[in-house]
Parts: sequence; structure tokens; C-alpha cells
Amino acid sequence: MKRDFLKIEGLSQNELLSLLDAAEANLPIAEQKQPRKSLLDGRVVANLFFEDSTRTRCSFETAVHRLGGQVFTLTSAGSSTSKGEGLIDTALNVEAMGVGAIVIRTIISGGPAMVAKRVRIPVINAGDGRHEHPTQGLLDLVTLRESLGNLAGKRIGIVGDIANSRVAHSALQGLTILGAHVILIGPPTLVNSNQSKVTKLNDHVSITHDLDSIIEQLDAIMLLRIQTERGANTGISDDYRTIYGLTQERAKRLQPHAIVLHPGPMNRGIEIDDTVADEHGGIRILRQVTHGVAARMAVLENLLGSSKV
Ligand code: CP
Repeated sequence: MKRDFLKIEGLSQNELLSLLDAAEANLPIAEQKQPRKSLLDGRVVANLFFEDSTRTRCSFETAVHRLGGQVFTLTSAGSSTSKGEGLIDTALNVEAMGVGAIVIRTIISGGPAMVAKRVRIPVINAGDGRHEHPTQGLLDLVTLRESLGNLAGKRIGIVGDIANSRVAHSALQGLTILGAHVILIGPPTLVNSNQSKVTKLNDHVSITHDLDSIIEQLDAIMLLRIQTERGANTGISDDYRTIYGLTQERAKRLQPHAIVLHPGPMNRGIEIDDTVADEHGGIRILRQVTHGVAARMAVLENLLGSSKV
């Protein structure tokens, strides 16, 4: 039976650890310290990206190349989606070309899952609406483990637009599976216990609207972009940087071992100051990008490794 990779939620700890270990094993290839693999020799992966992307899209393309395969990317501009063709029809047509797997980014929460029910080949979620961004979740966990080791009991703060963030949702799922303590931080309009993402408040998940009260306790801080394309700017004040931004002054209060993550793209001067992004010793933002290639290789290997498609 074909398998898909649609979300972190619901993975067992062993399944998650196995993917993280595989991603870490791929790191020397992602860094070009070892030659590429040949697993996908002669095979084609389809990237269907119907929301803008720099990191995820190029990272999947690079991951396929590092596994010896070929990849094509379809975007809204220049494809027949502009003539009204829907996601499922697009995916069925791409499947009919004989590709080995489909990677999907879409504004529709649950869109990749809908496609997965209709095609016979593996589907990978590259970010669906406000739902999940599971390969981002993997790369975030790889980055955290690289610097912090075992994440059980570690205190990870996720700051900002939790309400609209699929990145936060996948990170929250993965971190709690691994036994970390997640503190969701932001203005009440963007972080509150009524939101579906944070209904699992328990010993491992808490909320605060006061970043300054806990910044010194964090082992890592993950900053989120305010997602203006999903209407988030209507719920924040002009004081966002002052209250929630990682300013130079605030960054000095982080523990010496604490690291700083951001999924990108960064809004410099809003959620993070230039000097912090460029000079702080705990910054791991570009390291996350490198880990993205290794993590996406691991997912492709996991889904296509024993497939004959
Ligand atoms: N982190 C992330 O999803 O970035 P892109 O939107 O550029 O892919």
C-alpha cells in the first residue's frame, strides 16, 4: 500500500525519531561532503506549488537531485490552474505522466490529504493553509537536536502568529511527541487557548502573552512571521516589535546555550532585529535551511525507498 507524508500529528515517537535519524544521516550529502545517492535514478518527482515559496520549493528540488532523481515544479502562474483546473485534476494529470511522488503546497488546509485519497502515488505535504508544514517540522527538530541534544524536558518558546502558522502546528506536534515543553507566546489575538492548535494545553504545552517574563528560561526560541496574507495584521498592534520582537536588548537575556530559529522569510525589524539575525551566536536560521534538504531527502527515501513506481 502506498504511503503519504501529510502531517507530524499522529506519528509515533519511533516513527518520528527514525525520520530524524535518517535526516541526520543525509546531512553530509546535503552539505556536499559526500556524493549523492542513486535511489531515485530514472525517477521523476512533481512539485506542485500553488502558494509562493523559496526555501521549501528549492529544498525539495535539491533533495530530489541529491537522491539522483529528476524533478519538475508547477506553479499557479503559467499552469492551467489559471484556467480554473483544480488541485485534484492537476494531480491526476501529473500522476498520469508516470511521476513517482507528488509534493504539494496549497492554501487549502487538507488539500494534500484530499489529493492523497485520489492518487496511487505518495503525496508529501509542503505546507497546507494554516494546517501543517511537516517537513518544516522535521528540519526544525533536526536543528534543535543538533544544538540541544535530546529534546525531552527542553523548554522551547514559539513566538508570534500561532493562529495562522502551520509551522507552529507541526513544531508543536513534533516537540510534544519528543517530550519537550512548548511555550506559545504572542498577543491574545494570535495566541489563545480557543485555537484548535493549542487545545492540547497540558504539562507539555503552555501559553503566555508576556515574552519578557520567560525569555531567560528558554532553551530555544522560534520566531514566526506575521502572516499578513492570512489577515494576521488586523490582530496585532504597531508595538509588536517592542513587545514580541527579538531585539538586541532582548536577545542578550537568552541563556548562553539558547538557539534562535525562524522558518523564513524573516520580517527584519519586526519579529527580529537585523543585528540579532546577522550576529547573534545562537542564530540557526540558515542551518535550518541546510537541514531542510536532508529532512526532505529522508521523507522521499522513506516513501519511495521500496516503491517500484
Ligand atoms: N519555511 C518556508 O516554508 O519557507 P518558504 O515559504 O520560502 O518555502
